[in-house]
Amino acid sequence: MSNKRGFASDNNSGVHPRLLQALQQVNVGHTIAYGDDDYTHAAQNLLKQHFGETAQSFFVYNGTAANVLSLKAMTNSFNSIICAETAHINVDECGAPEKFTGSKLLSVETPDGKLTPQLIKKHLHGFGFEHHSQPKVISITQSTEMGTVYTPAEIKELTDFAHKQGLLVHMDGARLSNAAAYLNLSFQQITADVGIDAVSFGCTKNGGMFGEAIIFFRPELAANFKYYRKQGMQLASKMRFISAQYTELLKDGLWHQLASHSNQMAQKLAKEVAQIPQIKITQKVEANGVFAIIPPRIIPQLQAEYFFYMWDEHNNEVRWMTSFDTQPEDIDNFVAKIKELL
Ligand SMILES: Cc1ncc(COP(=O)(O)O)c(C=O)c1O
Repeated sequence: MSNKRGFASDNNSGVHPRLLQALQQVNVGHTIAYGDDDYTHAAQNLLKQHFGETAQSFFVYNGTAANVLSLKAMTNSFNSIICAETAHINVDECGAPEKFTGSKLLSVETPDGKLTPQLIKKHLHGFGFEHHSQPKVISITQSTEMGTVYTPAEIKELTDFAHKQGLLVHMDGARLSNAAAYLNLSFQQITADVGIDAVSFGCTKNGGMFGEAIIFFRPELAANFKYYRKQGMQLASKMRFISAQYTELLKDGLWHQLASHSNQMAQKLAKEVAQIPQIKITQKVEANGVFAIIPPRIIPQLQAEYFFYMWDEHNNEVRWMTSFDTQPEDIDNFVAKIKELL
């Protein structure tokens, strides 16, 4: 079996050695199950340090659950959730957000994966009209599925706009670390300080093995969450193994080191393929993704050696993701292969 590092997904990478070691370190003796343990309390305290005093956090197993259950806590079944057409909740969660919340997803086409008040406006009507689903949440992804990053000002504009209309704002932060590293800002500066109400904060794509955190910044959203999590089958009995990964990532800046590295690798890849005249980069490269239109004839051969996903079959647009463990020579070899095939 070939375990060659490629550019298909940051989920394809393994686990950072320090996180594996952290799992090993907490693997001693017995501790209280279901999250009422010292390891989990320590991780929750660290999350407060990084996200601010209002942060109330809950761990779940994966990112889909983090999104679905946080949205569940923010909605009733007669509500609607506005998101980008490219949002993971819209295209990659098998309808789980609709199934578990009962709410309708209203998607918006965007040029770069980012929502703006202007783009959302068309969905803001029918308030109080019983025939119409009631808009309640705007869900944004940071960094986006297109590898772009919202600035704090862009987020604040959206949250002010949402709150004025009585809406809440959810952030899918599966790659929040990549966004914070790109902006060189703290997690608090791009969530609580700019009006975000709830965030799904991932660790898996930044070197973790499994586990994601949901952080609420409003006490009323957190109040009944433990029941939703249990009903949603996401209450981990051996929670210390999720908590330990968060502590390791957050205690001394490992999260930043790994996400910055991954972002830098995307910059390197973009810089090198930009010099190839037959390749056109289609999105700003800000986090750890590179989107490009490439000659279709080289795609199957390139994929055979370095598997990656097509983003838009019709336009021959591909998505290349870098990871915490991508090495400069991986990029050199990949670019050399592209040149050879061309
Ligand atoms: C933007 C985004 N959100 C959430 C997720 C989490 O998904 P999973 O349920 O696979 O952990 C992913 C994973 O690819 C993602 O890209």
